[in-house]
Amino acid sequence: MSKEPLVYINGEYYPKSKAAVSVYDHGFLYGDGVFEGIREYDGIIFMLREHIDRLYDSAKAIMLEIPMTKEEIINAVVETLRRNELRDAYIRLVVTRGVGDLGLDPRKCKNSNVIIITEPALTLYSKEAKLKGISLIISSVRRDRVDATTHQIKSMNYLNSILAKLEAINAGADDAVMLDDRGFVAETTSTNIFIVKNGIIATPPPTTGALPGITRAFVMRLAKRLGYHVEEREITPFELITADEVFVTGTGAEILPVTKIAGRTVGDGKAGKITLRLMERFEKECRDPANGVKVYPD
Ligand SMILES: Cc1ncc(COP(=O)(O)O)c(C=O)c1O
Repeated sequence: MSKEPLVYINGEYYPKSKAAVSVYDHGFLYGDGVFEGIREYDGIIFMLREHIDRLYDSAKAIMLEIPMTKEEIINAVVETLRRNELRDAYIRLVVTRGVGDLGLDPRKCKNSNVIIITEPALTLYSKEAKLKGISLIISSVRRDRVDATTHQIKSMNYLNSILAKLEAINAGADDAVMLDDRGFVAETTSTNIFIVKNGIIATPPPTTGALPGITRAFVMRLAKRLGYHVEEREITPFELITADEVFVTGTGAEILPVTKIAGRTVGDGKAGKITLRLMERFEKECRDPANGVKVYPD
């Protein structure tokens, strides 16, 4: 049998089959916790510091104390990858409220749990599937409001997205676009969304309740460097459907063209020119040590 992957829990490493937290953990009971999904490319953890900053911001928003410094978390992520001998990995970093009683009072949870799971990076989509693009519905489930369980907080509560994902699955689509409570485009269930119209790139602001994605920010900077005009502004469903190009971004998805929305073909039904250019550049940049933290010494 091949060696079992090791999972980090509060400073210890457990084989995957033994890696567990209590059923009294409020992460399990209430979705009370925060997390990050991170990628390692060729021994470089892409945008790790930005992910750690966002984790701390999410934790602050829910008044969750992370019992480690940012530097300690970075070292723990690096060490987990080294112990698992991974060079291309998906990393799930989770901080739960910890063990409490059955009531939801977070003050009963004295110690949060810090968990790091690393797995070989899955190719979510083959190159061909990527170029073909994905289909989206426009979900009837509205993105959580910014004054409620907004996705600006990357919390363990993903039911809002899961309801929309179920709707997409039932409709035979790959994923769903979610609108905010006013009807403006927010994001998909687990990616940020961009449109291109007449050469101008636009993406909705976090005021729609969308998660301020790390890939989104990186792609916005990259597009500006390549000379494109990039706008962060409200986008209507009409603009989405009539865009020349649409693509989504995320740690798992990277950059993915969208070729169908709510039964309408986007542009000419193929990955757009600007989308393809960004995808090509992203593939190189995510492996650049300047854009991440190195796991192994040279
Ligand atoms: C709701 C949601 N939006 C957007 C994203 C994309 O964010 P990032 O690029 O930081 O992975 C994610 C994935 O983490 C997500 O869960």
